[in-house]
Amino acid sequence: MVKVLTASRTAVAVCQGRAAADGLIASGRFADPAAMALLRPDERETVQWARDGAVPRQWRQRVDYETVRASAELIVPRTVAIDDAVRAHPSPQLVILGAGLDGRAWRMPELAGVRVFEVDQPASQQDKRDRAADLDGTPPIFVPVDFGRDRLGEALAVAGHRADRATTWIWEGVVPYLTEAEVTATVTSLSACSAPDSRLIVNFQVPATSAALGRLVARAMMATTGRSSVWANEPWRSTWTSAAMAGLLARHGYTVTNDQDLLAAAHALALPIRHRRSLSHGRVLVADRT
Ligand SMILES: C[S@@+](CC[C@H](N)C(=O)[O-])C[C@H]1O[C@@H](n2cnc3c(N)ncnc32)[C@H](O)[C@@H]1O
Repeated sequence: MVKVLTASRTAVAVCQGRAAADGLIASGRFADPAAMALLRPDERETVQWARDGAVPRQWRQRVDYETVRASAELIVPRTVAIDDAVRAHPSPQLVILGAGLDGRAWRMPELAGVRVFEVDQPASQQDKRDRAADLDGTPPIFVPVDFGRDRLGEALAVAGHRADRATTWIWEGVVPYLTEAEVTATVTSLSACSAPDSRLIVNFQVPATSAALGRLVARAMMATTGRSSVWANEPWRSTWTSAAMAGLLARHGYTVTNDQDLLAAAHALALPIRHRRSLSHGRVLVADRT
């Protein structure tokens, strides 16, 4: 099995989507001023084209432009759904699993006084630390963990996470990149250090043939520019029905309190919708431990 040994490129792609949307899409409900600051100059350039609506003439740049625009549309409802679930249930600890270039530790005032841990595979995390070095605000506690190899609970405990205090867990944009066994092992580990009143917010993809085809088309488009797609090194490895995810969580003491698809979330924000199918295949599920 090919493992991600370099810094995640999908993490950059979703961060570009947030940077493109900041202040322009769902203004008042969505904001991520940290996103642009976490990008490198060449990554920012494409974002700026998308923000300006400046359609590039060259094919290679046009593909990048369309990729960022699509990312923005898919990311905004997902971010808002997760932020809402975090705000609605304050916890003394927040653990962001597979954090990538997540800016919540810096951008959410509600997290002042909350111990924020960011867990990610080591190469992605080192890349994040380099990028975030100059950001204003309190950085999270960084915990390098590969979900397929390392012991999550032990690594968190060493970093100062308290298993006897409630935790909100965010698991956004990561489950598809893990095998079923890795997802199950991660739920087992996090549930073992979830005190009563903990909350798990998990974003996952439902099985859909059209989604697999869409990724193939995106890969083919990128191949026409002479580059590999971000999914070449980070293929999707598992999809979940709501029932399967709810069942897994129930076996580990978590009860689902909300489960919505991103299309519904986008409608609720009155967003213009171009990627209806992709939105409908992504879900944000909230589960609580009593
Ligand atoms: C698409 S990015 C999402 C990043 C972030 N959660 C967000 O939504 O912006 C996928 C993230 O999952 C992480 N990841 C993938 N496989 C992993 C593994 N086996 N162990 C730890 N992290 C992993 C990557 O390093 C990357 O940061």
